[in-house]
This record gives sequence, structure tokens and C-alpha cells, in this order.
Amino acid sequence: QWKMAAFIENTVAEIRRKVGTRRVICGLSGGVDSSVCAALLVKAIGPQVACIYVDNGLMREGETELVKHTFRDWFKADLHAVDARERFLTALAGVTDPQQKRKIIGKVFIDVFKEEAKSIPDAHFLAQGTLYPDVIESGGSPDGPAATIKLHHNVGGLPAELGFELIEPLRDLFKDEVRHLGTELGLPEDVVWRHPFPGPGLAVRCLGEVTEPKLQTIRKADTIFLEELRKAGWYRKTSQAFAVLLPVQSVGVMGDGRTYESTICLRCVQTDDFMTADWSRLPEDLLARAATAIINRVKGINRVVYDISSKPPATIEWE
Ligand code: XMP
Repeated sequence: QWKMAAFIENTVAEIRRKVGTRRVICGLSGGVDSSVCAALLVKAIGPQVACIYVDNGLMREGETELVKHTFRDWFKADLHAVDARERFLTALAGVTDPQQKRKIIGKVFIDVFKEEAKSIPDAHFLAQGTLYPDVIESGGSPDGPAATIKLHHNVGGLPAELGFELIEPLRDLFKDEVRHLGTELGLPEDVVWRHPFPGPGLAVRCLGEVTEPKLQTIRKADTIFLEELRKAGWYRKTSQAFAVLLPVQSVGVMGDGRTYESTICLRCVQTDDFMTADWSRLPEDLLARAATAIINRVKGINRVVYDISSKPPATIEWE
């Protein structure tokens, strides 16, 4: 506890010294690392930090609202929440190839971020929630030049050409330390314990073309699954859990009639480093409750399956 208090005190002093009277841009993704990074900066320099959050329309239920509420209402931060939902969906229309989808999302993200950054003309620094494992993974030394992996992997790829000087206040910390720091800074539990979420968001869980109705189906199923996990005390025991909408229709019965509807796949894994992963042995009754609730409450779904593949050879995501 005292160690964390000392870390905050030292880091806040260091940020203030480095930044002086200049302004900082902080990319917020809604995930733990960027949220803790932003909260720390807000504590250190208040209105001198401008947080940019890009709503790409590929977020989970309530995620954008949570970010807005946390940073705008609670931390009183200068939050630039850009509604780019339409722009992403339009760019993704008709695209089915997974890598193509990622590329498009990455490119639109950079464009949108750049445009918004221009509205903060006197910004000199860009803050990033790079952690110690990111520094090591990208081949950097702890004291060396800024890690780059976070750039393309997490925030969607902010290139050096943006021309900002980097600030990475979390680069000596591990994930569990970042969670403690977040709690200490007053971030809600919901943010601090959030499972990781891929940069391309629900697009890689919507197999094939991404459309708004499909995204809504995934969001509903995902919310139900996570609710059941939380209620049963399994959310924190697992590393990542989510729903995938498969491009498969199958026959079902409803009353006297036959249905021909879509399939939701539930995925839940345990992992230390996300390089390898095992599927979670969730209790049968938890899976049963989630499946029944999804079929009853999500229109267009008549079948739910559970993914029991480990990584490798499967990946955690389906695309
Ligand atoms: P895979 O599916 O490769 O995922 O086993 C490993 C971890 O990385 C996340 N992931 C991504 N994160 N951009 C990201 O920021 C991506 O394109 C991407 N693809 C996968 C995935 O959610 C898991 O945590």
C-alpha cells in the first residue's frame, strides 16, 4: 500500500517536472492500461491533459458510456469522445477478410485520432499505457526508447509521424500493479478488472461482414454471458470471456414451427500471457443458464455452442 502511494507521489512529481506548462494527449481505449494512465495524468496535471476516446461502434454494451461517465463526470477530465461509429461501419461495409477488417479499422482509427489531435493545437506529448511486459516484448530495454508494440497492438496504431514526445508512466509496472494503482486512483472496479479487449473490437467477433444488426446481436449475447459469469463469481477467475456470432444458420423448433436462425459461440479462456491459453472449465449450470438466456432473449439466435479449443492451435479470437 505504502509502496503504491510512494509510486504515485514520485510519478506525479516526475510528470509535472517533465510536462511543465505544456499539454498532453492521452489515448483512451476503455481498457485498464489506458484508463490508469489517463487517471494518473489527470491527477498530476489536471486540465493540461486531453483524453481522446474514439467510439468506433465496435465496443461492447455500455462501454462508451462507462468511459464518458468515469472520465468526464467523475475525474472531470478534458475528454474528447469522438463519435466515429458511422465512419468505421461505412469503411467496413462489404469487407469479409479478417486481416482486411483489421487494416481498415487501424487506418480509420489513426485518421480519426489525428483529426481530433489537431483540435488540441498546443499538445506536445502523447501519453501511453505501456507496461513493463510490453517494453520487454517489443525488444526494448526498460531505459531505452519508447516501446512500440502497444502502438500497433492496443490503441490501434499511433505512428511516430504524429510527432509527439511520448510519456509512458506505467512502463515499470506489471498488470497486477496497474490494477492496484487504478484502484488507488479511484477508478471503478468495472474498469480496473476489465478483461482485455482487442483493438478491432467486436469486428473480429462478428465473423464475415460487419453490420449494425449483427453487432447488436453480439452485444446482447455478450452482455448476458458476462452477467452470468459475474453472478457466479467466475469473471475474475477467467482471463477473457466473450460471445462470437458465427456465420452459420441452423434449424430449430419453436412452438409448432421450425426456425432457421444464427448461432452464438461462447469463448472463455484462462491464460497468463495470452500467447497460450486453455479453455475455461466453466460449471455446466452456468453454461446452461447463459445458453438459455441468450436463446430466450436475443432475437435471431436459436443455438449456442461453447468453444473447447486451446491455444495453440486455435487462437483466442475467432478472426
Ligand atoms: P489471439 O486471438 O491472437 O489473441 O489468440 C491474443 C490476445 O490478443 C487480443 N487480440 C488483439 N488485440 N488487436 C488487439 O489490440 C488485435 O488485432 C487483436 N487480435 C487479438 C485478443 O483479444 C487476446 O487478448
